[in-house]
Amino acid sequence: MPKLDSVRLLKEAEAFLNVWVSDSRGRHNISSLTDRLDAIASEIQVSGTYTHTAEELAYGARLAWLNSNRCVGRHFWRTLQVRDARDVRTADEVVAQLDAHMAAAFNGGKIRSFITVFAPRTPGEPDPIRISNHQLIRYAHFGEGLGDPATADFTNRMLANGWAPQERTAFTPLPWEIQIAGERQAPRDVFAERPERLVEVSLSHPECDDFAAKGWKWYALPLLSELALKVGGVVYPCAPFNGYYMGTEIGARNLADRDRYNLLPEVAELFGLDTSSERTLWRDRALTELNRAVLHSFDKAGITIGDHHGLGEGFEQFCLAEEKAGREVTGDWVWLNPPMSSPQTPQFHREYRNDVAQHTNFFYQPAPGTETTTAQPSLQNCPFHLPQS
Ligand code: ARG
Repeated sequence: MPKLDSVRLLKEAEAFLNVWVSDSRGRHNISSLTDRLDAIASEIQVSGTYTHTAEELAYGARLAWLNSNRCVGRHFWRTLQVRDARDVRTADEVVAQLDAHMAAAFNGGKIRSFITVFAPRTPGEPDPIRISNHQLIRYAHFGEGLGDPATADFTNRMLANGWAPQERTAFTPLPWEIQIAGERQAPRDVFAERPERLVEVSLSHPECDDFAAKGWKWYALPLLSELALKVGGVVYPCAPFNGYYMGTEIGARNLADRDRYNLLPEVAELFGLDTSSERTLWRDRALTELNRAVLHSFDKAGITIGDHHGLGEGFEQFCLAEEKAGREVTGDWVWLNPPMSSPQTPQFHREYRNDVAQHTNFFYQPAPGTETTTAQPSLQNCPFHLPQS
């Protein structure tokens, strides 16, 4: 490994351990930071990388969440439960791990945040485990008006690689594509294999009786599988994690965006809104009703969901407490503001420094098996993207 990379890795290890030690109030069990860093330095010299202890990994994953400037739910960062799956090497084991993750995270509806960390990257070797899916649960797109347009390319690739969906609906979950040591496995239709893996919420509205008949729904668990976790310079290219939904993600984006499910015209019709002019604000009124339906339906199903007012307030209190303790919470204003009524949340009224901690964080990364990122090449310079290794 080039000298420069090992110097950077050691620096990032040190930056991470410094945060850990200063935050740990004596709870960490490294006898001395210098001893640990010496050990890491010799390990890097021999192998080009170093191995985290289970404790370092657990703290590192939590810290990566705290450092995620775009997340408005990270005041819960200390509650993240970390599943260590670094020894997994086969696709069947991956599926078993993710099964266990989904069950523990769903927790009968009282959703808990989990991350499952698979093997780290070793310089010069193909990644042991990768998952190509953006989220473990997401709906396919089968063309005009059928499914989630956000997944059009991925759906087509799965179909081309042999996926034969049992049915093609607006809400057909995608199969998983797992890569083992750089080898793409055939699409695995885990939700067709065992439908009980998929927990969904059918949408109804507290007042509009015709709403439920539309058959709209969303899945309960947002479980991101695309981002790389980096802890103290070490990259974990497969580390799926979940939180719980904030209602607006579903009601003001996924189901409402014109290039997603685009449901507002139909909602307006349900409520008999006057759509003859934009100035009746029928879009805004429909948006509100759709978001009420989302929160109402999750509540009725007994499945955890946040709303932008509650989460916004919680995050603000966290920022204030951190500031008082002499720590500044960095953030990405554009992402921290909800996609509706943002001036009604504290986020709108403050500024955040968008400094991205490089040593320990979550990063976008090139899709497995490709040379460039799925997004524009210019994103290679974006601080939220992992540089090409
Ligand atoms: N916005 C994404 C979606 O709507 C999920 C991102 C993660 N969200 C979360 N609440 N942890 O599917």
